Amino acid sequence: MIAYQLKLGNTQSTELMKIKKNHSLKKYNSFGIEANSRYFCQIKNNEQIQALLEWRQNTDIPLLLLGGGSNILFKKDYQGMTAVIATKGIEIIKEDEKYTYIKVAAGENWHQFVRWCVENNYAGLENLSFIPGTVGAAPMQNIGAYGVELADHLYALEAIELCSGKVKNFTQQQCRFAYRDSFFKSIAFGQYLIQSITIRSPKKPQWKIEYAGIKNVLKGQEINAQNISNSIITLRQSKLPDPAIIGNAGSFFKNPLLSEKKWQALKQQYPTLPSYPQPNGLIKTSAAWLIDQCGWKGKRKGNAGVYQKHALVLVNYGNATGKEIGELANDIIKSVQDKFAIELEAEPRIIA
Ligand code: EPU
Repeated sequence: MIAYQLKLGNTQSTELMKIKKNHSLKKYNSFGIEANSRYFCQIKNNEQIQALLEWRQNTDIPLLLLGGGSNILFKKDYQGMTAVIATKGIEIIKEDEKYTYIKVAAGENWHQFVRWCVENNYAGLENLSFIPGTVGAAPMQNIGAYGVELADHLYALEAIELCSGKVKNFTQQQCRFAYRDSFFKSIAFGQYLIQSITIRSPKKPQWKIEYAGIKNVLKGQEINAQNISNSIITLRQSKLPDPAIIGNAGSFFKNPLLSEKKWQALKQQYPTLPSYPQPNGLIKTSAAWLIDQCGWKGKRKGNAGVYQKHALVLVNYGNATGKEIGELANDIIKSVQDKFAIELEAEPRIIA
């Protein structure tokens, strides 16, 4: 282990950023893939963030920032520095007639934060219950489920520009959220460390319970954040695997967006094709349905497989390598391409 002495200006801090060499990432990715990082550290406070930035200035070793590791596939070892962001803190920073503004540190566990909101009667995030990962990773891919996206409730975001070390504030619009996408995942990829987000919780919430299945689980219970959150947990548990038991990264593919023309042609041939019209005129269809139609649900290839209850989730049944999962993903992409002429796009980040 290398002990990196933190220098802040002229002062010598006692805080140490501990850098480990050739460290296993198995515990730090929800697929449970065995891969090593050449260097590894955990960042628990702002001083350690500064130490990381300082370390980075003196090296050209690539940097990988990890939250809960729930949206990444390691197909090989990582030849750089992996920094796991584990900063903590939840704070009410402002309140007005309509909203409560809650600032939360990037390293908080997403689901625990949602539950904290639910238990303290701050509405808005309940539909996003039980999504694995951390708060800081949530804006990267604009997490979404059951008719709600993070973008609907995120008010502001604080990120450190890695090249300058400056803290920059982003408004919701500046984050350029789209379906499973953001400024940080696209244009500014690799340029920022997300430090915190601020959520705007409405005092008069508009509940979203139209999504198939929620009403059934609610079964006449009072509609409030707590009951919606509990229903979502039940729903997710019934069809998605728990990464603590079977390694996975949630949905492995994005739902494809089709032109009206392409959708019309397919719908004629496949009348049950699920369709979700988008405001921009494109039609979103279901990747799970396409994969299911190709007969992949429940299929297993060695240690890698397609989860038996949901065709969009690839799983590690034991000692799968990232390469095995990647090969399975490629086989699925090929069969969907052959049958429907649609190119599926992987959702998680792939280290290859
Ligand atoms: N379907 C199948 N076979 C299956 C599963 C689903 O044909 O095995 C079809 C059904 O027609 C179903 C439709 O696909 O009505 C949609 O399925 P589901 O409601 O499960 O949603 P999804 O589009 O597959 C998206 C998100 C999930 C999120 C759910 C619920 C993406 C890539 N995935 O999945 O997010 O939980 O909606 O809102 O947008 C994640 O991103 O990791 C994730 C789990």
